Amino acid sequence: MVEILPSLLAADFARLDREIAFAEQAEVTKLHLDVMDGRFVPNISFGPPVIQSIRAITELHLDVHLMIEDPDRYLRTFVECGANSISVHYEACRHLHRTLRAIQSEGVLAGVVLNPATPVSVLDEVLELTDFVLLMSVNPGFGGQQFIPRTLSKVMQLDTRRRELGLHFPIEIDGGITHKNAADAARAGVDWIVAGSSIFGNEDPSAAIRQMHQLTRAATAVRV
Ligand code: DX5
Ligand code: ZN
Repeated sequence: MVEILPSLLAADFARLDREIAFAEQAEVTKLHLDVMDGRFVPNISFGPPVIQSIRAITELHLDVHLMIEDPDRYLRTFVECGANSISVHYEACRHLHRTLRAIQSEGVLAGVVLNPATPVSVLDEVLELTDFVLLMSVNPGFGGQQFIPRTLSKVMQLDTRRRELGLHFPIEIDGGITHKNAADAARAGVDWIVAGSSIFGNEDPSAAIRQMHQLTRAATAVRV
């Protein structure tokens, strides 16, 4: 079943408790947290102290998306502040195999992220190791950007490869997801859908999440 992961990047940072409560009311199981360093991406978001404060007020799974250079240096810190899954960019890891293992050895799920310009074929050697794959459907760094439609063919390619190998890792998509394209993503084979602006930019975030859930469930009910 497709899950919606609200991205707090689009939330009101002065009212995180209220924003998280909206997500909890809509029965999500995971929150998506975007960490940016101003180097790997041209923007700075938030880091460990904010995640620690979020951990203190929710039991939800915290899915931490690291858009940072040299993520190995900070893996333990992010686990200690409450991450349940950590994803790192293929483009930021010189030794991806080692980094994925290092995340898993800290007892959390390890994911690998691909930028829009990176083909899914680069993952072949780590597909048996990774716990999930995140395909960026915008260039990382900012919320509210336009969805890159070609991402759907990457999702389909990865879904095909996953079946060929008899693997079951979730495929996550992130960037520009709206109520108009969420069903397409679900039909293409996505399991986790990240959405920021289309949830927290809505005056009723809980209703926006519920509606997106319904759209994706309806779409996958006819999936063969
Ligand atoms: C972008 C981040 C996304 C962002 C998505 O670099 O990785 O998680 O919050 O925001 P929307 O859904 O507004 O495109
Ligand atoms: Zn993200």
